[in-house]
Amino acid sequence: MSQEPRQNLQLPRHVAIIMDGNGRWATERGLPRAEGHRAGVEKIRSVLDFMGEHAVEYVTIYAFSTENWNRPQDEVSGIMAILREVIEEEAQALHERGVRIIHLGRTDRLGADLKEAVSNAQELTKDNKRMTLSVAFDYGGRSEILEAVRGLMRDSISPEDLDEDLLSQYLYTAGIPDPDLIIRTGGEHRLSNFLLWQSAYSEFFTTPIPWPELGPQEIEEAFQSYHSRKRRFGAVDTGG
Ligand code: IPE
Ligand code: IPE
Ligand code: MG
Repeated sequence: MSQEPRQNLQLPRHVAIIMDGNGRWATERGLPRAEGHRAGVEKIRSVLDFMGEHAVEYVTIYAFSTENWNRPQDEVSGIMAILREVIEEEAQALHERGVRIIHLGRTDRLGADLKEAVSNAQELTKDNKRMTLSVAFDYGGRSEILEAVRGLMRDSISPEDLDEDLLSQYLYTAGIPDPDLIIRTGGEHRLSNFLLWQSAYSEFFTTPIPWPELGPQEIEEAFQSYHSRKRRFGAVDTGG
């Protein structure tokens, strides 16, 4: 869904987070990388609370990319196990707080138990309105666009009828506004295949702090930085 230019925004309506740096955080402490992923998951709850307090309506977190399958098998299966556990354990609490949970990504390569946990969580929370939490795993922006194109072809959409809004409706994020602010922890300055289509005019904030160590002060800083940005969406700033 393409976004109307909205200037002088006080707060981001949609914050997307690339939760990076778990592995390095663990390695620096002499711990196995899996401990970093475990610590990373613990961080999510407090960050969601912060977002809720700041009236953020949409939070999207990047948990596992289509390229992350290239990691050692034991790390991959560890992450998948943590994901299933967390979704099963947290769905009810999130539901009680009015959070709608959505998965962004492929489902065909996920284990049956994880798929079931996702579908139960989505079903349980589907009518919630306070916040939408999108959890991106086995997610890749290119794969998402490719899948959308396949869908359009399957539906025999003619080239003349195709526009940006229609293509957006075939993405995993159909119905979700584009992210206003993308935060990346762990020090890298790249998207790593995250929300390629949706990030066209997102503001970008990076911090060297690894995800397990992120504190409210860094999110505050990200929000402050966001406040100070002039979002022009390609137009000319007329002041005011
Ligand atoms: C992010 O942390 C989590 C995933 C990509 C699954 P990393 O595991 O990439 O941590 P670093 O970047 O190696 O420190
Ligand atoms: C991006 O982190 C993916 C997630 C946070 C899930 P990566 O660690 O996979 O990204 P690169 O390899 O540094 O680009
Ligand atoms: Mg990384």
